Amino acid sequence: MKRILVSGGNGFLGSCLVHRAIREGSEITVVDDLSTSQGMNIPSSVKFVNEKVEYFKTNEKFDYVVHLAARPSPEDYVLHPIDTLLSNSLGTRNMLEIALNSRCVFMYTSSSEVYGEASVIPTPEDYYGYVNPNGKRSCYDEGKRFSEALIMAYQREYHIDTRIQRPFNVYGPGIRADGGYGRVIPRFIVSALRGEDIVIYGDGKQTRSFLYIDDWLEITWKLLTLPNLGGEVINIGSSVEIGIYKLAEIIKSMTDSESRIVFRKAREDDPRRRAADIKKAERIFNWKPVITLEEGLGRTIQWFRGRNL
Ligand SMILES: NC(=O)c1ccc[n+]([C@@H]2O[C@H](COP(=O)([O-])OP(=O)(O)OC[C@H]3O[C@@H](n4cnc5c(N)ncnc54)[C@H](O)[C@@H]3O)[C@@H](O)[C@H]2O)c1
Repeated sequence: MKRILVSGGNGFLGSCLVHRAIREGSEITVVDDLSTSQGMNIPSSVKFVNEKVEYFKTNEKFDYVVHLAARPSPEDYVLHPIDTLLSNSLGTRNMLEIALNSRCVFMYTSSSEVYGEASVIPTPEDYYGYVNPNGKRSCYDEGKRFSEALIMAYQREYHIDTRIQRPFNVYGPGIRADGGYGRVIPRFIVSALRGEDIVIYGDGKQTRSFLYIDDWLEITWKLLTLPNLGGEVINIGSSVEIGIYKLAEIIKSMTDSESRIVFRKAREDDPRRRAADIKKAERIFNWKPVITLEEGLGRTIQWFRGRNL
């Protein structure tokens, strides 16, 4: 039986990974301070430690250490910039030390945000990024960039098996359901289902690419458990780019909503375009997203309809 430590394991991605790991027969410890997740999303059989990842201490040995703890929603992290930076600096170091003590695989969820305002779209892993180092979003972007640098330093100096993934806008059932949390798909769905205004920050011409949770989980499990991947950095996303206004229209139509689509001032340093170059993931893992946006949105809208909004 494999022993896995997951920071942020009660969140959207973390709890999906935990459920998958349970199905694979793993023994799991989750450390999570419940700062951005709502309710308990993992079974009671999981050992749960309610603690900040920066301060969590253990002498236990693990086969895999997975570091996901972060405040990833723009509307939330700009209100908590110090916490945001600490979970992705002190927190990353702490999790790396635990992995070093166990001599085990360490996997990190970085972010497409490390690319900032990318000039190459779809963006490949070897694009260095164009990021404002001290703007409002820097607490998140630079935390992720520092973590990547620290992880590679541990890999080079201590030869531990580190794997970095850069997810691009993952969505699906299980994502935090209150629309105010700031992620665009749940925010639009909740507004549409409530008949409230669907708010676009900026002109709506900015683009994103979206990946359905099942596709994320499929490749993430491989990235975590397959051999000979130490030192790899992999984009996990979709190369299909969609404008945010178009996304709002699709969601409005799929929910048969009477909501208006309205515009507010653009967010500072909000990237104009984003899409993932996933050739590396395709080559190494023989992986491609299989769920189309329409299919994924359909499943997600159905899940939201079943909730008490
Ligand atoms: N979902 C996406 O589209 C996406 C895209 C890029 C990167 N990521 C990264 O993936 C990871 C997981 O994201 P998610 O979508 O599941 O977000 P989430 O908010 O649902 O989950 C994050 C979890 O981390 C916990 N947490 C936050 N700060 C903590 C701290 N200091 N100590 C302990 N626990 C803490 C939260 O309580 C929550 O349970 C994050 O690192 C995020 O930056 C996600």
